[in-house]
Amino acid sequence: MSVQKEIKRVTTRTLQDLKQRGEKISMLTAYDFSMARMVDAAGVDVILVGDSASNVMAGHETTLPITLDQMIYHAASVIRGTNRALVVVDLPFGSYQGNSKEALTSAIRVMKETGAHAIKLEGGEEVVESVKRILSAGVPVMGHLGLTPQSIYKFGTYVVRAKEEEEALKLIHDAHLLQEAGCFAIVLEKVPAALAAKVASQLHIPIIGIGAGSGVDGQVLVLHDMLGINTEFKPRFLRKYLNLHEQITGAIANYVKDVKSRDFPNDSESY
Ligand code: KIV
Repeated sequence: MSVQKEIKRVTTRTLQDLKQRGEKISMLTAYDFSMARMVDAAGVDVILVGDSASNVMAGHETTLPITLDQMIYHAASVIRGTNRALVVVDLPFGSYQGNSKEALTSAIRVMKETGAHAIKLEGGEEVVESVKRILSAGVPVMGHLGLTPQSIYKFGTYVVRAKEEEEALKLIHDAHLLQEAGCFAIVLEKVPAALAAKVASQLHIPIIGIGAGSGVDGQVLVLHDMLGINTEFKPRFLRKYLNLHEQITGAIANYVKDVKSRDFPNDSESY
């Protein structure tokens, strides 16, 4: 009899347990089947099909242009590449801000058409009604506070958020509202480390940081940034684990050279 080790899927409950045990949560983005397979195999707890796909996959300057149909295409591909990570999908700009019914309709489309496990949306008090309505249909919701890229034209800049007391107090208030509404976790983007640590210590749900210091319950990065596929994006919070841009362009340049010089294909590579 062969003994096959069963792979247990990470759930929202797992994340809660990790926080309680003081074990950090790892989260990365992915947008396609092949990358998702590697991210999942490497043991990442949460895969975010982020609307950053608008930037890193489609080449847009902001996250605003990506559509719900495009997010669904990315998410369905990611799901096919995973069997362990919890997969969370961003509701894109324009798919939930109208009202809570629109938010629920978008969330249901994501869940039905992709097989994902949860959705994420940006904002505090203004999205609480939508969070509750989506949750009432049984769909887990992750919040996102601090720098919220879908509001970039309101902020006018990608600098650190909530440095002033008034904005910091509003962020803490919003985090509590999202927790009370039922969010299973919150992403905190680009806020002072001390503020993020305070939120993580006050809330019982996991706080996942990006540019929010080490006092939170987990970390998230955009896959293409941490692998060094993007060379232009160099914020202070980003740790690059590879320089894939250089390695991939180098490998492709070698291929071009081999084709031009007739070195490729050789006899053993031919039929
Ligand atoms: O879209 C995204 O990749 C995100 C992360 C930066 C958290 O929301």
